[in-house]
Amino acid sequence: MASSTVTFKIWEMLVFIVGSVPQVCKTSHFKNPPGPWRLPIIGNLLTIMHDPHLALTSLKQKYGNVMQIHIGTVPVVVLSGFETIYQALVVQGDDFKARPDFYSFRFIGNGKSLTFGKDCGDVWYERKRMAQRALKSFSTSSNPMSLSSCYLETYVTREAELLIDKFIDLMKTAGHFDPYRYIMLSVTNVICAVCFGRTYDYNDKELTELLELNSEFGKVTGSGYPADFIPILRFLPSRTFTNFKNLIFRFTKFIQLIIHDHNQNHEMVIQSEYKHKALSNDDITSIVLDIFGAGFDTVSKALSWSLMYLVSNPTIQQKIHAELDAVVGQNRLPKFSDRAQLPYMNAFILEMLRHSSFVPFTIPHSTTRDTNLYGFDIPKGRCVFINQWQVNHDPDLWRDPFIFRPERFITTCGKIDRNLSDKVILFGMGQRKCIGETIGRLEIFLFLAILLQKLEFSVSADVTVDMTPIYGLTMKHRRCDHFKVCARV
Ligand code: HEM
Repeated sequence: MASSTVTFKIWEMLVFIVGSVPQVCKTSHFKNPPGPWRLPIIGNLLTIMHDPHLALTSLKQKYGNVMQIHIGTVPVVVLSGFETIYQALVVQGDDFKARPDFYSFRFIGNGKSLTFGKDCGDVWYERKRMAQRALKSFSTSSNPMSLSSCYLETYVTREAELLIDKFIDLMKTAGHFDPYRYIMLSVTNVICAVCFGRTYDYNDKELTELLELNSEFGKVTGSGYPADFIPILRFLPSRTFTNFKNLIFRFTKFIQLIIHDHNQNHEMVIQSEYKHKALSNDDITSIVLDIFGAGFDTVSKALSWSLMYLVSNPTIQQKIHAELDAVVGQNRLPKFSDRAQLPYMNAFILEMLRHSSFVPFTIPHSTTRDTNLYGFDIPKGRCVFINQWQVNHDPDLWRDPFIFRPERFITTCGKIDRNLSDKVILFGMGQRKCIGETIGRLEIFLFLAILLQKLEFSVSADVTVDMTPIYGLTMKHRRCDHFKVCARV
């Protein structure tokens, strides 16, 4: 490396350290939340390098529900415990609703992203509400072209049936398969139908490549990406960050092309919500990118975790089959309206969300003004991590939190225990809460109900599935190529 580059990097580091001193001094008269001892320059980075959700859950035992760590020299407040998170995000929601101005977030939608952008004022609020309305219309407006209750039901049913055909086909040709890629394409097709009114073939090369690249997105946007806190790291070569930028570039181009095609022909439904607001094509692209990205990644992870739990717990799968046979039978397909009559299926989904906690932290928040939480001072602009994984495994809330047991959600009357199910947090809370929660829950339910009505899933007898989560904004499991299905009719 040229000596001038080294000198530059040392300068960069010194400027950063010196620059951070006033910040530390300025906050020293505050009552800071407690936190662990830290190293100079890197702070607690080593502690949270791997599986930060576990590391921070274990630190919570010592420092409590409001604690402070440092990544580099940047202080980060970490919130745990259901009540504490509720207090911050709902009761004091205005104080905690911003997003930090992270280096990585600036690349998403050119910094204008509804989800990752730093705007949290009136314009952001209005956009979020419109996006929410547009999504809601898919799960409520009836589709005149079909017997389904709404567009979403039509799209999910069609994709679930195609997925069943694909799995049966793969069994005939190879005798076993890895379902992940096909689940991801099916879920993506649902969100494509929602956003663009069109779907893609399982063999579509461009879409498949884009979806495969997606894990790079979660690696960077998951809480605690070092280069967001330690600026000098941005100057070091990083394959992950290059892939991240490449993915955003390709996804943006992909969506711009579809929007362009649409403009030639007809208006997109998402677009029609915005038509009186004089939004540019860039604005539309950024909103669609947000909905598209959040919509396919989360739901496909939920479904692939579900299949992992089903093959690891055959007795649970049998109970779901029995419930489906009794309530729906084999003469018609399951529908959204069956949901209330299938408590065991709902309990399974809740337990999958809780136990996997595959969105371990919300997207990082930051404070909009100086505030105080349970006696601790938190200044304006402080980055805040919300540990959803901790809540979902909190022994004060859950008996045997590490055991997978859907029955925990069922009352003695055979109904879902609403008090307990409300304690599972995976969609955030308050003003930044996920706008796709209703759609997401409905999709997971209907995909699973249709798949399990028709198929029994298993893995080869000599295979143990590896359920160890791989950390990211959304956590995936290791791929498993040994899935088998057997038709139930
Ligand atoms: C199982 C499915 C899903 C899970 C677990 C999930 C979870 C989350 C979480 C944890 C957040 C961040 C909350 C926060 O920062 O406090 C979020 C935000 C968001 N989600 Fe979801 N999500 C799911 C499905 C969806 C779907 C299907 C869509 C759209 C079709 C969607 C769109 C969004 C958007 C736009 C945001 C940003 C909200 C904001 O920043 O104010 N999500 N989601």
